Amino acid sequence: MESKNKFTVLLLLSCMATIFSTLVLKHKDTLTITTHLKKNTIKIQEDSHLITPIKDSEHFMVSAFIDHRLDGAIRVISIIKRNNLQPLYCVYCTPEHVCETVETEVQIHADHFGFPFHVSDVICKGKNMQSASHVLITTHPTKNSYNLKIDYLLIKNNVVTDNFKYNFTVCISNLFGSYNNILQFAQTMEMYKLLGIQHVVIYKTSSGPDLKKLLKHYESEGLLEIVSWPIDKFLNASSGWNFQEHKGDLHYYGQLVTLNECIYRHMYQSRYVLLNDIDEIIMPYKYSNLQSLMEDLQSADPSKGVFIIENHVFPKTQFEDSGKFKRKEWKNIAGINIMEHIYREPERKNVYNPAKMIVNPRKVEQTSVHSSLMIFGESYHVPFNVCRIVHVREPLQGSLTKEELFIDKRVWDFEKDLIPNVDRTLKLSGLLKDSS
Ligand SMILES: *[C@@H]1O[C@H](CO)[C@@H](O)[C@H](O)[C@H]1NC(C)=O
Ligand SMILES: *[C@@H]1O[C@H](CO)[C@@H](O)[C@H](O)[C@H]1NC(C)=O
Repeated sequence: MESKNKFTVLLLLSCMATIFSTLVLKHKDTLTITTHLKKNTIKIQEDSHLITPIKDSEHFMVSAFIDHRLDGAIRVISIIKRNNLQPLYCVYCTPEHVCETVETEVQIHADHFGFPFHVSDVICKGKNMQSASHVLITTHPTKNSYNLKIDYLLIKNNVVTDNFKYNFTVCISNLFGSYNNILQFAQTMEMYKLLGIQHVVIYKTSSGPDLKKLLKHYESEGLLEIVSWPIDKFLNASSGWNFQEHKGDLHYYGQLVTLNECIYRHMYQSRYVLLNDIDEIIMPYKYSNLQSLMEDLQSADPSKGVFIIENHVFPKTQFEDSGKFKRKEWKNIAGINIMEHIYREPERKNVYNPAKMIVNPRKVEQTSVHSSLMIFGESYHVPFNVCRIVHVREPLQGSLTKEELFIDKRVWDFEKDLIPNVDRTLKLSGLLKDSS
């Protein structure tokens, strides 16, 4: 109580010092300061700038959303330095720049794997949040740095709607290094389209030279949205998932930040969101596309919001014998040809299968990579024969011979459409000459 009184006095003093602060309110336990800011002191971050340092701290803010499931609180997805968490305040403003300052609650997600920085939700609760258009997280409740241009975040998800732009969106949590696996990428994107995906989002730190051409093609086609993710400019992002082993500041290039960001970004844009990696295809086996799959899974129980899909490895070291997909047209295209890899590794007893997910974003509050941490509704393990992931990659059980692997030719069912579509894309991207 005493410290709070002292705080209020400080507040009053500081407010008297600035002509823009007009009112100090204190109701219940929360502290609210109302200020009228001059227009030119505010700079609202463009959507393309996702990582904004929080002044006088080691933390970063990423994106802000109204969360209608929490009575319209503002959720700011952030990257928090876990061992250096001081009180944070939220300044939220109307389009006319009438701003309120409130205390925040910081929820550091549980799956930090020991990394010093981790994805967190900074939750702001106060009055009139629904009419706010931009927000700032600050360490100084009384000092809005009136003379500085401060970066505010645009608040998204203001309006609840079930008029979705997309039924299926894939979130690829990160693209980094000089990834140049062209053929597998083109095949995967074309497969997504055949399965009914309308939108793919990739958080991109960097990529290889040829892949850039493909990305450009899919962007102009309207399927792909690239979100710039320059995490390497701010932190030493880890190349692995475990701090003990891989070191670094932040888990796997910030994957947990971008996955959560992607879910909130699409809450009212996409009926479903698929959270899989760039080399994974969430493949319906019982149905020919994702629409029929989800209609079946949801009709049984509409309360289900998270669908866990088993991952299955198809080693890139084992080739199918006929060689019918070893096409001369693809000879000079870098990367893996998934059509040649139809041998599937068996499941191992007592070894965890790192599943991925299809989620209804409106039912997820916090997600991890292989499961969701906080959800509204139920999570459901989709049976292997209904849907599973085709993941062509290095073997996990490299000592197994073909006889010990299962033959699984599901990707061949799409041959008739997939092959010409991949060729067309490679040509339009300038990666395949017309004559070939
Ligand atoms: C999207 O889903 C809705 C509801 O399931 C369905 O009526 C509609 O046809 C779907 N749109 C497309 C393009 O598949
Ligand atoms: C990354 O680590 C190096 C060496 O430990 C350090 O010098 C550098 O400042 C770090 N960079 C960032 C952005 O934290």
